[in-house]
Amino acid sequence: MIGVFDSGHGGLTVVRALVARFPRVPFIYLGDHAHVPYGDRPSDEIVSLTRHGVEALFRRGCTLVLLGCNTATCVAARTLQRHWLPVSGWQGRNVLGIVAPTVEAATQTPWAVTEPQYPQKYNTDTVAVFGTTRTVASHAYPEEIRKRCPKVTVVQQTCSELAGAIEHGAPEAELDALVEQGVTALLAQTGGTPPHRAILGCTHYPLVEHLFRRHLPPFTRLLSQPEVVADSLEDYLNRHRHFIEASESASAEPVLLTTGEPAGVNATARIFWPEAPDFRAA
Ligand code: DGL
Repeated sequence: MIGVFDSGHGGLTVVRALVARFPRVPFIYLGDHAHVPYGDRPSDEIVSLTRHGVEALFRRGCTLVLLGCNTATCVAARTLQRHWLPVSGWQGRNVLGIVAPTVEAATQTPWAVTEPQYPQKYNTDTVAVFGTTRTVASHAYPEEIRKRCPKVTVVQQTCSELAGAIEHGAPEAELDALVEQGVTALLAQTGGTPPHRAILGCTHYPLVEHLFRRHLPPFTRLLSQPEVVADSLEDYLNRHRHFIEASESASAEPVLLTTGEPAGVNATARIFWPEAPDFRAA
């Protein structure tokens, strides 16, 4: 079984793409709605909450957990992978984040390659990264992109209230104003020059992708994280079949769990994934 963890609803955009891509693989999704949003929390709190979420999924039988959350990935993934997992007692399990596949797609360079592999002369694009306060403060995206493509300009922009507003089902006009504010602030950083590509670096943002599309010019390519993550997981599972071999079945139904109150969570979940099964208490 594969677990997907997020601070709340955002990871549903990822698990929805995964369920469509791997219909025979059973997924368990855990949304930490009791503590959402993570985006402005102190780093040590995010590490601790993410570890609790991963352990809860391991206890439910998941052998592989994907952090379907940029904030948790940027702040906690490395600590959990390098320092916690080896001494945690959960042998043979793994935790994956979603920054690596996104950087691979943005740079067209495999994650394992950490130096420029081809002449960088023409690779001088500007890439925008929209994310939460903690994702932006971690500098994970600019650092990892520049290692592989040093001539690319990476401009980050915090959209601090956007994930919370999406999570609470805010009206379209409010979301539109927040996206416009984020895009305007980004353009103020670039002197008005629009980016060639934009990473929606928060799994809540695909829900308002049409609003980013509205406020960015048509030639700015938006990088869709759910699809990119599904491509990357497919590649990973082809190389690590044992994570799914035992659990594949013809009728794999995703299970959705929440640390919050299921009735309220279910109502908003339909915005993210209209055919989502009901959430249950974790
Ligand atoms: N959806 C999460 C992300 O990808 C975080 C939203 C939040 O909890 O602030 O960053």
